Amino acid sequence: MFESHVVDFPNGFLWGAATAAHQIEGNNVHNDWWRAEEAGILPHRSGAACDSWNRWADDIRLLQDMGLNAYRFSVEWARIEPEPGHFDQTALDTYRRMLEAMRSGGIEPLVTLHHFTNPAWLADRGGWSNLEVVPRFGQYADRLARTLGDLVSWWVTINEPSILGLKGYVDGSWPPFRTRDPRGYLSLMRYTTRAHMLGRQALKASHPAAQVGVAFAVWPMQALRWWSPIDQLMARLGDWGWQGRVLNRTLRALDWIGVNYYSRTTVGWPRARTDVVSDSDVRTDFGWEIYPRGLYDVLLRVGRYGKPVVITENGIADRDDDLRPGYIVAHLREAHRAISAGVDLRGYMHWSLLDNFEWAEGFSQCFGLATRDRMLRSSAQVYGTIARANQVALS
Ligand code: FCB
Repeated sequence: MFESHVVDFPNGFLWGAATAAHQIEGNNVHNDWWRAEEAGILPHRSGAACDSWNRWADDIRLLQDMGLNAYRFSVEWARIEPEPGHFDQTALDTYRRMLEAMRSGGIEPLVTLHHFTNPAWLADRGGWSNLEVVPRFGQYADRLARTLGDLVSWWVTINEPSILGLKGYVDGSWPPFRTRDPRGYLSLMRYTTRAHMLGRQALKASHPAAQVGVAFAVWPMQALRWWSPIDQLMARLGDWGWQGRVLNRTLRALDWIGVNYYSRTTVGWPRARTDVVSDSDVRTDFGWEIYPRGLYDVLLRVGRYGKPVVITENGIADRDDDLRPGYIVAHLREAHRAISAGVDLRGYMHWSLLDNFEWAEGFSQCFGLATRDRMLRSSAQVYGTIARANQVALS
């Protein structure tokens, strides 16, 4: 009989799942996505989504049923501040009740302030192209700090600024639908960094122990043809432009670094691709390559800054759930390998708790450990067993 070799994660490791407000809450009628969905500019409508605005207690129960001890979710700026300067106390109270339920149920919350959507009024004023967004974000963060700050230790100010820039200002498939607008892209990158800094100050002003980070989309960039100096150069430049620059700029204002990791990108003349097939032909429903080794690489890449790191997203579109169990195990082995190599990794948030509104893909891509009916898939059992034991088998 062979015994499988198991390795332990550090004590207190955060085992969680991740979601975002617009993708699960339903009826976020005051944001720019909802408006574009209703106008038919976006191909799908979020509608009631997972109805989590009403069913949040069920969501917390799912986390507990799996044996998880953390939950990354986002609060919706448009719900909290539906009109400029007017804060909705009822919405804040609901988020407070959610947080209290998590705290008393042994779930550590990681709260994101901005996950892609903007209040419609903010979009009308130029959104991330108008410097006004920075003080507005600061006021929003200040309100959150004063109303919810006693219940939250881990904050994410902004989710994936570079993806927001790419989709909103380069390929134009997301609000504000600008195509090839380098000025728009650069102002978004600049203002999200500044908004993060101001937001962090506000969050820490009333709760100095608050740990404030950003969730970066960290995709390793590799040369498409390893032997080609042009591809090598493009991969380096791509990596610098995509993640190096923003990380370096934000670094001194990060208490921790959030890593969203899904797959790798290969870069070569004449284009970047995510659909590379290497060792196997297996793809996620989204068509993405499964490349666990890349998680190790990106963790080492950000780990060298010496700050705590949390995997704020990692997951797979897999409606049938035949790949997800293996995906989870393989990525957690890589995460553990990074810990052994010295990375101060504090947690893993699987994307996602539920099948949800996957942005421009609507409900077609199923990332959930559970369905929208709150039925846990078999992979939830696999993940829960690892989380409860705080260890993963290496073979
Ligand atoms: C990330 C987003 C998240 C989800 C996953 C699949 O880029 O942060 O909202 O859509 O991709």
